[in-house]
Amino acid sequence: MQVIRTIPELRQALAGQSRTAFVPTMGNLHEGHLALVRQAHERGGPVVASIFVNRLQFAPNEDFDTYPRTFERDCALLQGVGCDIVFAPDESVLYPEPQDVKVHPPAALADVLEGAFRPGFFVGVCTVVLKLFHCVQPAVAVFGKKDYQQLMVVRHMVRQLALPVEVVGSETWRADDGLALSSRNGYLSPAERAEAPALARALRAIESAVAAGAQDWRGLEQQAMDGLSARGWQPDYVAVRRQADLGAPQAGVPLVVLAAARLGRTRLIDNLEVPARG
Ligand code: PAF
Repeated sequence: MQVIRTIPELRQALAGQSRTAFVPTMGNLHEGHLALVRQAHERGGPVVASIFVNRLQFAPNEDFDTYPRTFERDCALLQGVGCDIVFAPDESVLYPEPQDVKVHPPAALADVLEGAFRPGFFVGVCTVVLKLFHCVQPAVAVFGKKDYQQLMVVRHMVRQLALPVEVVGSETWRADDGLALSSRNGYLSPAERAEAPALARALRAIESAVAAGAQDWRGLEQQAMDGLSARGWQPDYVAVRRQADLGAPQAGVPLVVLAAARLGRTRLIDNLEVPARG
């Protein structure tokens, strides 16, 4: 496995490749990331994973400075799952000058849910993902469904800008107790870690109710928010939305339940897809 830090070296290493599969990450890898790399590997071309903590997608009050940087461990894990190239540019490589050309995804998709609580987040994500795509020039890029809205925003960008990249969504990896794997789970104290699966349970309760025909989506959302608050969480949102465009739910179409909530100082997100009732 090669570790590459500059764009010219990356381009040279990938020259002539037309089947590169790409997994963008911010490092601090867990089993969920490794599953993305394994999935990328199945495509048969070279696999590139990037490790870059993208300042542009963090608000000033967020955890950019303290975001765990575990580069050596990440490289060992990536090597173990057959990654061919780790692209780990410094900020001076990816942002050699202030990045004032940015990608602004549409408000209807990007200023709701996560975007409403993390203004500018998806501008930062789209800008770095587009830039990484230009560096890696992948045929396929694999993203986790855990960041459901991110996956949708990236798909939208790829479609609207006619980027020659197939975007693949990979299922969320969960611990045995249901907690979705996330780099930020490491912030949880032991007591918070024991409580954390309550978020997935709240989503599952809504999923079961909707799958059984409930259509009082607002009521279900509020019930889940109240339940989490009563357990000491600070929910940002629990929302039932259409899978297609994250618009308001309708009967008879595939839905997704999404949630974000703080447990102590840690903000967790999760989601569950609910197929259309047959
Ligand atoms: O999901 C992430 O880890 C990041 O948002 C991404 C896609 C690597 C862009 O920085």
